[in-house]
Amino acid sequence: MKADELRGRFISYFERQGHLHLPSGPLVPRDDPTLMFTNAGMVQFKGIFTGEADRPGPSAVTSQKCLRVSGKHNDLEEVGRTARHHTFFEMLGNFSFGDYFKREAIEFAWEFVTGELGLEADRLWATVHYDDNDAFNLWLELTSIPETRIRRMGDKDNFWQMGDTGPCGPCSELHYDLRTDQDDRITDAQFEAAGEADAIIEFWNLVFMQFDRSPDGTDTPLPAPSIDTGAGLERIAALLQGVGTNYHTDLFLPLIEAAQDGLGLGYSLAPEDWEDGVAFRVLADHARAVAFLLADGVFPSNEKRGYVLRRILRRAVRHYWLLGRRDPLLHDLVGVVVDRMSPTFLELEARREHLLATTEAEEELFLSTIEGGMSEIDRAMPAGGSGTLAGDVAFKLKDTHGIPEDLTGLIARERGYDVEWEGFDQALEAQRARSRNVVRSGDGQPLTLNLGLSRAQGTVGSIDDGGLEQEFVGYTDLEVETYCRRWVGDGRHAFLLERNPFYLEGGGQVSDTGRITGDGWTVDITSVVPYTQGRTVVSGPLAEGSLSDTDGAVDDSVFARVDPLRRETERNHTATHLLHAALRRRLGEHVFQSGSLVAPDRLRFDFSHRGPLTEQERADVEGDVTEGILSNPEIISSLRGYDEAIAAGAMALFGEKYGDVVRVVEIPGLSLELCGGTHTRTAGQVGSFRIVSETGVAAGVRRIEAVTGYGAYERELARDRLLTELAEQLRCQPDDLTGRMGRLLEERDLLAHEVEGRRGAATARQIDILLAGAGANGARFVSGRLEVPAGTNLGTLADRLRGGLGSGAAILHIVYPDNGRHAFMSVVSDDLIRHGLRAGDLVRVSSKATGSGGGGGARFAQGGVGDPALADEALGAAKTWASERIPELSG
Ligand code: ALA
Repeated sequence: MKADELRGRFISYFERQGHLHLPSGPLVPRDDPTLMFTNAGMVQFKGIFTGEADRPGPSAVTSQKCLRVSGKHNDLEEVGRTARHHTFFEMLGNFSFGDYFKREAIEFAWEFVTGELGLEADRLWATVHYDDNDAFNLWLELTSIPETRIRRMGDKDNFWQMGDTGPCGPCSELHYDLRTDQDDRITDAQFEAAGEADAIIEFWNLVFMQFDRSPDGTDTPLPAPSIDTGAGLERIAALLQGVGTNYHTDLFLPLIEAAQDGLGLGYSLAPEDWEDGVAFRVLADHARAVAFLLADGVFPSNEKRGYVLRRILRRAVRHYWLLGRRDPLLHDLVGVVVDRMSPTFLELEARREHLLATTEAEEELFLSTIEGGMSEIDRAMPAGGSGTLAGDVAFKLKDTHGIPEDLTGLIARERGYDVEWEGFDQALEAQRARSRNVVRSGDGQPLTLNLGLSRAQGTVGSIDDGGLEQEFVGYTDLEVETYCRRWVGDGRHAFLLERNPFYLEGGGQVSDTGRITGDGWTVDITSVVPYTQGRTVVSGPLAEGSLSDTDGAVDDSVFARVDPLRRETERNHTATHLLHAALRRRLGEHVFQSGSLVAPDRLRFDFSHRGPLTEQERADVEGDVTEGILSNPEIISSLRGYDEAIAAGAMALFGEKYGDVVRVVEIPGLSLELCGGTHTRTAGQVGSFRIVSETGVAAGVRRIEAVTGYGAYERELARDRLLTELAEQLRCQPDDLTGRMGRLLEERDLLAHEVEGRRGAATARQIDILLAGAGANGARFVSGRLEVPAGTNLGTLADRLRGGLGSGAAILHIVYPDNGRHAFMSVVSDDLIRHGLRAGDLVRVSSKATGSGGGGGARFAQGGVGDPALADEALGAAKTWASERIPELSG
């Protein structure tokens, strides 16, 4: 029985038992922050079990897309090695929402498995939870399974829970015995071992849903005892097809075949060759996961779900790379998944292009990373050598060159090297420790300080900073009086302020500028740079007064002021958070910040997303941000523990290093991000938000540029001015511009049409005159000069000419007064063509006589005019040439 038929039979059997057939829920659970991916059929019904949602009917049946790669149920490492572990799989399920309970669930299972599917009843085993006498007795009463084959098991096997929290209950499973002896008298350990060895296969799980588990571990009874069934489609298909492993069913073989083609290597179905086939099975499995994840809106990225997708995809690439394939391959398998599974899962076909293109692009990206790192690998582990790869070198391969450690390990093994993993772990831990320290911490060494934003701007020598501690006060204060340490270098005055209001560029937000005033002098602050121990130094040229050069650093008391216009950055920064949230809301969770610039006059935000936004999406995003601004929530920033902030759902940027304590910026109800930047006090202070442009910057990365506050205001003013000017020019009110413009365009079209008609008529008249001047009897030769407007279609002219010509040949010197160009054009009537005269030849003779070339068909041809002064002569040459062939034409 093919898998498609099995799925169909399951659904129709339960429909006949009164179950409502519902589609699979998405792989990304809707509104469930406790779960990264749907990992069981019951996920879409969680709220119904707990009583929070209405039930669609008393009972339901589904075939649910599942992914087990994270959290409580994670099978990633087993994939390809065992007979039946997958990342993506389908779970068949019948569900009772307080309708029927254990008795019917067991009856249905038995009837379907032995009756509909015809699995051998005397190969079946049942397991029940230790405490569950009801289930034990029901199996005895309702089925032919003997007591010796009903096993009682503990929580580990026979208590099912979705995750750490949520609906749960004792469960009861059906197993199929593939052993030849089918011995009943085995211990629990032997039973378990037979399961591990794929000799006794668990394929049907009946969960008797009774509790809702809360985060503290307590179980609250559900409003009504319910049934949640999970039956693995792939496993049952393997049993029915008698192939011993899910991978050899019709669900996977076409994918394995595609992998064979792509790798140019054979795959053997023989059990003794199992180990050699791991890569093929991994590719087949991962292609399915990648296809379905992409189809459900997950986008490869460095964050959360996108990161899982990226890891699965890269895992596949590593496997084929090690088998010698250097070009993208997985996307071909994804294509096979789409071909074969679209009839059941329409979303695949609908997004086919996206699936293939995204997979291929992501493969390319990773392949080029590996290629880039290969020379490093060759240097570290030359082929033909041997020895031990130092841990810090393995770490550097990962950290600097993006080569994952498992790939390093595999290559090492292939080339006969050991890897010193202890050293690798130490290096990794050391890096983690470093990044846990405060951002931008220094090393406390005497410094050579770069005072400009570009290194070319010069440095000052070592200074004695007097151990001055610094506090950043710029979140709240733009003007402060403060102690400082100041010194001079390269004509610039540098300050280490005790209370520092100047923001140092970070998180996309540009550094502040401003002024520092002392006794009789003012310095323009044009540069803010990082200094040791998380402090910053500000510097700039003298603006007013005089300030004596010092030898080394001196203490002083000054007045520091950030340019408030520069802090227009705050409006753009707050708007950036609103924009990020709106994009995720409107486009999906795959949207993730990949770059940001927060300047005083604009913001620029790069994010992962394939393809341009539609006009509607753009309007929705702009509308959401505007709504956020107008609802005017107060912006709350706080310091929190990193883990706590992440648990609360704060967005963190991948690749950013955060300390244990982080600053969290919250726009209540709208956005929560880890952010060190400065913001407006309330969202309303952003003023207004307008998207200026939306463009692509790289594969899968889009860029939005936008303005806020005064920037948006000025943009509106400029547009108004433009409209007013236009209206003045067109002599109407700005509101009437569209109508006025429409009418003008209409008039212009009419005029153009008329002009064209007149010009055409003029040309036609010229042709008629030429024709009239060429005699009327017998074959005639027409030649002359014809002035036409630029853009005249010579083909149409030729038709007219041939129409009026009768029997004969014509060659014209076409002149375009509009642009000063010249051409020859020729036509020949059909009867003369039969006598061997061709328009192409005539043109060639004329063009050649002027030093140019041309040609064409027998009826119509055109050619260039080299020297126009020779055009008349050239026409004559054509006539002579034609007359030599058709004497009648000489008349
Ligand atoms: N929810 C149960 C499982 O996943 C049926 O096994």
